[in-house]
Amino acid sequence: MAEFEPKLVGFLCNWCSYAGADLAGVSRFQYPPNIRIIRVMCSGRIDPYIVLEAFAQGIDGVFIGGCHPGDCHYLEGNYQAQRKIKMTRQLVKRAGLEPERLRMEWVAASEGERFAILMREFPKQIQELGPSPLSGEKPDEKLLANINAAKLAALDFRLRAIVAKERKIVEQGNVYGETKPQEEWDEFMEDAIEAEFERKRLLAMITGKSMSVKELASEVNLPTDRVLDHIVFLRKRNQLALDSIDGFTPKYISIVPEVKP
Ligand code: FES
Repeated sequence: MAEFEPKLVGFLCNWCSYAGADLAGVSRFQYPPNIRIIRVMCSGRIDPYIVLEAFAQGIDGVFIGGCHPGDCHYLEGNYQAQRKIKMTRQLVKRAGLEPERLRMEWVAASEGERFAILMREFPKQIQELGPSPLSGEKPDEKLLANINAAKLAALDFRLRAIVAKERKIVEQGNVYGETKPQEEWDEFMEDAIEAEFERKRLLAMITGKSMSVKELASEVNLPTDRVLDHIVFLRKRNQLALDSIDGFTPKYISIVPEVKP
């Protein structure tokens, strides 16, 4: 059987990693041609939604390249990227795909050889994982629904605000000068990601079709009290409404304008 050739996408920042890739080419450092490079001005510009979309499209692995810490031409872009990618990796994992399919590395403009080494290493790492279940003619439907929920979670304002504030709160402190230990922050972040991912899955279930808490709980495999908490939260956010009462059972429906994931 022919060896699996992974389809990879690389987002490289213009000023360091892309220049490093250029140098690798000029210096004739060899690396496999599996990766399609997309040049962005800064790694901080890479939106988690786009990365998740690449996975939804069946890409086997995504590589993000940015300037080394302290070298970003927009000062903090790579620090922001690092946190965004951390969140994206967690969403990928929640959705049921291996987080190792998403890799981030710092590559300077002078590191052509390092870029070539990484480009030889990454396809091997993905080959070991095998093809993405979302690639090919028949993508795994359940996984695709989960990745779509992850994409919607990545657009959530609250999650974006939490990611944007992390560095300040962990390293510099809030307006009162209070900092939060990194482990505590990570735990808080993980809970926020989990909750938002679950809410997006629930909203997807009740788009165009009303369901009760019990039905939702069995569909998404969550305890009913957890689903009820999400229903209350989403109702407060004005994202769902009571649609009907079946006997004594209320049924809910999403009233969010449908966002095509
Ligand atoms: Fe390279 Fe920001 S310019 S990471």
